[in-house]
Amino acid sequence: METLDRIKLIYSFNDKDASNLIQLNDLMKTNSDEFISNVYSFISNFDDFSKFLPNEEIRNRHQEKLRQWFAGLFSGTYNNEYLRKLKRIGEVHADIKLPSHYVSATMNYIRNYILGIILKNFPGSSKRDEFSSSVNKIIDINLDIIISSYINEGKFYIANTKFETKIIKFSSKFSYILDLALVISLIIATIMVFLLFIFEIYDFAFKGGAFESTIIDILGAMLIVWAIRELLEEEVKKLQGHKFALSAFIGLAMAALLRKILIFSLVPKKSIEVAILGFLVLVLGIVYWLMNKNEKN
Ligand code: HEM
Repeated sequence: METLDRIKLIYSFNDKDASNLIQLNDLMKTNSDEFISNVYSFISNFDDFSKFLPNEEIRNRHQEKLRQWFAGLFSGTYNNEYLRKLKRIGEVHADIKLPSHYVSATMNYIRNYILGIILKNFPGSSKRDEFSSSVNKIIDINLDIIISSYINEGKFYIANTKFETKIIKFSSKFSYILDLALVISLIIATIMVFLLFIFEIYDFAFKGGAFESTIIDILGAMLIVWAIRELLEEEVKKLQGHKFALSAFIGLAMAALLRKILIFSLVPKKSIEVAILGFLVLVLGIVYWLMNKNEKN
């Protein structure tokens, strides 16, 4: 695993550079609104701009993150936490399959933008060259780490030997195949629940099944189909490179318990079981809510 100290050494980034960048902090802060609007007018020219940043909500969130990233360039603190954040930026862009050229081109624009501000505010001074050199180093380090996350498929793991590389490639392919198998199994499970659904109606229509229990069974089957659909959607998202929402599994467990409650509710002697299942659904509901809240944050 890389450490920022090693990367700093490679780029000859020293304490003087950190102190130069802190000195630029106030000046850059006053330009941060202009920075955001300029970067956005630059990236809005990309063909896929609206595909990646489709609405105001996502754009505002991205702009806020970009602002924080910009402030971080001049914070003077460049430790492993900083490295972790950069690595995450690369992973997020790799996850959404943003072409790495877009990041490189934007970074080039940002570099020129910052150097332009330095040129304007420190004309002809030796400080200008010093500041520019430190800015170039920190921008190069950022680009290096963000793009490394792309090359290593979001893992930023630098393998030491060819054998390690092969093992990593094999396990990522294997996990992809497992995901595909899961999607196929979920499709089969959905078809089976649909068959159950049809059998219930058939039983009711031709074999004189009880009306009340048929309705309950059908509702139960629908609940399971709904939960499997959620799970399937999450799996497909994962195959497309997004994060898997574990809460889909909790949803499935809740649906299975609710189905049992529906069935038991027809049996008069099962009230204790219904109460226990109800309590379990409540607990799962709280976990589901907490997980969703956490994911949104
Ligand atoms: C130097 C260039 C760029 C920087 C420094 C940057 C910075 C960031 C940061 C800090 C995040 C948040 C990462 C996180 O969640 O931890 C982010 C997310 C994102 N970026 Fe960028 N970005 C750059 C270029 C672009 C470009 C060119 C596009 C699209 C045309 C783009 C689209 C996105 C999208 C869609 C997200 C996810 C937004 C969300 O759903 O929250 N970025 N970026």
